[in-house]
Amino acid sequence: MTILHSIDELKNQFDTDVLNGKPDKDAFEEIKRKYTSRKGKIAELFAQLGSADPDIRPEAGKALNELKEYITIKLDGLSAVVSDNTEVTAADQLDLTLSGDPFPVGSIHPLTKVIEEITTIFTKLGFSLAYGPEIDTDFYNFEALNILKHHPARDMQDTFYVTDDVVLRTHTSNNQIHMMENHDPPIKVIAPGRVYRNEDVSVRSYCLFHQIEGLYVDKNVSMADLKGVLNYFAREFFGKNVKTRFRPSYFPFTEPSAEMDVSCYFCSQNGCNICKYTGWLEILGCGMVDPEVFKSVGYDPDIWSGYAFGMGIERMAMQRYGIEDIRMFYEGDIRFLRQF
Ligand code: PHE
Repeated sequence: MTILHSIDELKNQFDTDVLNGKPDKDAFEEIKRKYTSRKGKIAELFAQLGSADPDIRPEAGKALNELKEYITIKLDGLSAVVSDNTEVTAADQLDLTLSGDPFPVGSIHPLTKVIEEITTIFTKLGFSLAYGPEIDTDFYNFEALNILKHHPARDMQDTFYVTDDVVLRTHTSNNQIHMMENHDPPIKVIAPGRVYRNEDVSVRSYCLFHQIEGLYVDKNVSMADLKGVLNYFAREFFGKNVKTRFRPSYFPFTEPSAEMDVSCYFCSQNGCNICKYTGWLEILGCGMVDPEVFKSVGYDPDIWSGYAFGMGIERMAMQRYGIEDIRMFYEGDIRFLRQF
């Protein structure tokens, strides 16, 4: 046992003596003698210091001095309250006049909160959570999703290329391919994550943002299933009175495709600047998984069918909390963050 251990042990022993003993005056004097007298425990350790390993001697000297000071202060405090027949409890040693240590309290980021809320709703519906890579190959982000090399759909998304073949993913739809490659159907997952697009930074767009992808693959999945799940989700997230509408749209990886709008949360469709006086807010893209996508992962499209959807988290958070500038999410200004 090194002298450092002995110092530690002595401190424990002292703490036990002082707390468990409920010392009366005699017991207190005994403790004091035991530790601080000329032949006491502390003196004993100081005597051993000279023969301690030179490598640890400075550290041990410091620790011993600190212990001595600790014991002296404790005993001083105790001596003030010890008198004949008075019991000393831990509470007697508590100095309520000392000021506390204030510590800063953080808050959950609004995007994290929205992601948690959305994932909770979908996990109640039996979806499991999955995550995929933010840096991915052209194949997963485009090719396997039926967005071919010279397809005009690639113009829909301005891509950050790492190399000719590697991109920062432009959507969470790459997760669809990873999931289907690694698992046999049926599949029922949602996958939240960060995505990147080379867009001009403005109040409504930023070079990175977050999406949640949903994918359900099974036998006999229909567009009615998709609408049912998304309508349920909208009511859970925005409240019972929300209205929804599906507009036909186009994505290379779904057929048919749609976009879903919800009635404006802020003006109850009376018109406001958040919904640009349309009464509707677009929240997601969705559709039935295109047979070409099934083929690229080796699923037989004659057996399996499925739906997918992808929603923008920032957009949901902005609509939910009435935030008008997307850049607020990334600036780390605690005056903003504390409001959630
Ligand atoms: N990936 C599409 C986008 O980023 C959204 C989407 C996901 C559409 C899944 C259909 C199905 O805009």
